[in-house]
Amino acid sequence: MRAVAFEKLGGPEVLQVVEAPTPEPGPGEVAIDVSWAGVNFADAKARSVGYRVDTLPFRPGLEVSGTVRALGPDVTDLAVGQHVFAMLNGQGYAETAIARAATTFAVPEALDLRDAAALGTVLATGYALLHEVARVREGETVLVQGAAGGVGTVTGQLARAAGAGRVLGVVSRPEKAAYPKDFGYDEVLVGEDFDEQALRATDGRGVDIALDPVGGESWRRSVAALARFGRAVSFGNASDAEPWSAGFADVAPRGISVAGFSILGLAASDPTRLRILTEQAFREAERANITVPVTGEFSLADAGEAHRLLESRASTGKLLLRVR
Ligand SMILES: NC(=O)c1ccc[n+]([C@@H]2O[C@H](COP(=O)([O-])OP(=O)(O)OC[C@H]3O[C@@H](n4cnc5c(N)ncnc54)[C@H](OP(=O)(O)O)[C@@H]3O)[C@@H](O)[C@H]2O)c1
Repeated sequence: MRAVAFEKLGGPEVLQVVEAPTPEPGPGEVAIDVSWAGVNFADAKARSVGYRVDTLPFRPGLEVSGTVRALGPDVTDLAVGQHVFAMLNGQGYAETAIARAATTFAVPEALDLRDAAALGTVLATGYALLHEVARVREGETVLVQGAAGGVGTVTGQLARAAGAGRVLGVVSRPEKAAYPKDFGYDEVLVGEDFDEQALRATDGRGVDIALDPVGGESWRRSVAALARFGRAVSFGNASDAEPWSAGFADVAPRGISVAGFSILGLAASDPTRLRILTEQAFREAERANITVPVTGEFSLADAGEAHRLLESRASTGKLLLRVR
């Protein structure tokens, strides 16, 4: 079978299509003939800086949709031929992928395989950020960084569906400011001084929840934008900044909380919890009609082009690899 791999860290050009043996599922595993593979920012970070890469060569890909090809000996709750979505720990950019049964989900009837691949990870992430970590309450103001991207597109809609009073998005360029308004955002702030803009937009009160995947200066500004008793959640470090820690003087005066979330961390430490959360997220998506547009489809051979686009900061919505 064909798969995408890189032998050294570097730019998008290090991604190569290779021939590999078709993998067989072991205990607790499922082999999936992949129809669509989601392209995630974490895949680009794996390729460029070795994020979660333990050995080279490495095969990227954290989510796929497709058809169950074979089941491991003890897997009883899935069936060969079934349409599934799965979260993986790499190796998803391939014609056949191995997933743990614990993080493989039957695709709901209302979804086709393309939508399932587009929604899966971003939906579970946005749902966890709002409902589990930040614990959004009705009427609250939510601020989301990267509002035009995959996670941002669904998180605006999820916040709206959760009864948020106001949903503010942040994007880096004016060209991307119109897009999030179709996906739950009341207002889109452009540029690095978004904390000052958020304070002005809330008459100096600040936001109740700030969700930040960028890190560094952006994370500090997300914390600065919080209202009293606000919660800031760090869920990425796109800027590759050094870690920042908060002490008494940073959090106590306003009674604010800083938190974090990693879906890969949850998948590794508690797949059962991830499963419950993902099922809840899919139910919420169906109830609230949450969507994410697929704005780019690429072949396995063009995976590098998908990475280039994602890293250019020009993309909106979700990018997919069309595998079969
Ligand atoms: N913790 C988790 O469980 C989890 C799960 C999924 C994704 N994430 C994180 O969430 C973020 C969004 O992921 P995604 O896959 O949906 O990607 P995406 O938002 O579709 O694309 C990445 C976006 O990040 C923004 N960005 C900020 N700093 C950047 C930089 N230095 N280089 C490139 N882009 C930068 C860009 O938007 P602007 O130009 O508008 O800023 C860009 O469009 C990523 O940081 C990812 O690592 C975390």
